[in-house]
Amino acid sequence: MKSLHTLALLAAALSLSACGGDKTHDARLAKAGPNPSLAALMKVADARIGDRKAASCKACHTFDAGAPDMAGPNLHGVYGQPMGRNRPGFGYSAALRDAGGKWDDATLDAWLKNPKAVVPGTAMMFGGIADPLNRADVIAYLRSQGR
Ligand code: HEC
Repeated sequence: MKSLHTLALLAAALSLSACGGDKTHDARLAKAGPNPSLAALMKVADARIGDRKAASCKACHTFDAGAPDMAGPNLHGVYGQPMGRNRPGFGYSAALRDAGGKWDDATLDAWLKNPKAVVPGTAMMFGGIADPLNRADVIAYLRSQGR
């Protein structure tokens, strides 16, 4: 009985992480129009939903002001900052520290799709988020974690 209960909980947790508990995804995507641009996706993006979709980031990143760096740097206030400079005490890879760009909608979208395509040699081992609206939601969440 106990293991069945555990299994049911596990299944619930898995289905939640698969879609981020996002029942509004398809309706919001439709609202953004056919072949939506990133700007159109950002208009329907939702920071609260993005917070849940950032669950996979939280294995390596903290988001609250003052929280410590983990395997990855604390991401509070990273939006709008130069790449690899937000947390001077963190041991960034030389590749990211010298990348030269800054974090905005476009660079974050490309980064969250495939970090290595933006900064070859980055130490962020992350497979990427394939769904464009899921990326937009996470970007909206990052924007909400401002300085
Ligand atoms: C397996 C660990 C891991 C996961 C999971 C991960 N990251 Fe990272 N992230 C890192 C590391 C390590 C770095 C630093 C990379 C470097 O120095 O090249 C980084 C760097 C970053 C940066 C640049 C920070 C700066 O100060 O310039 C952003 C933005 C970022 N990650 C966002 C995310 C988001 C959003 C997610 C979830 C969708 C995520 N990461 C998932 C490990 C991870």
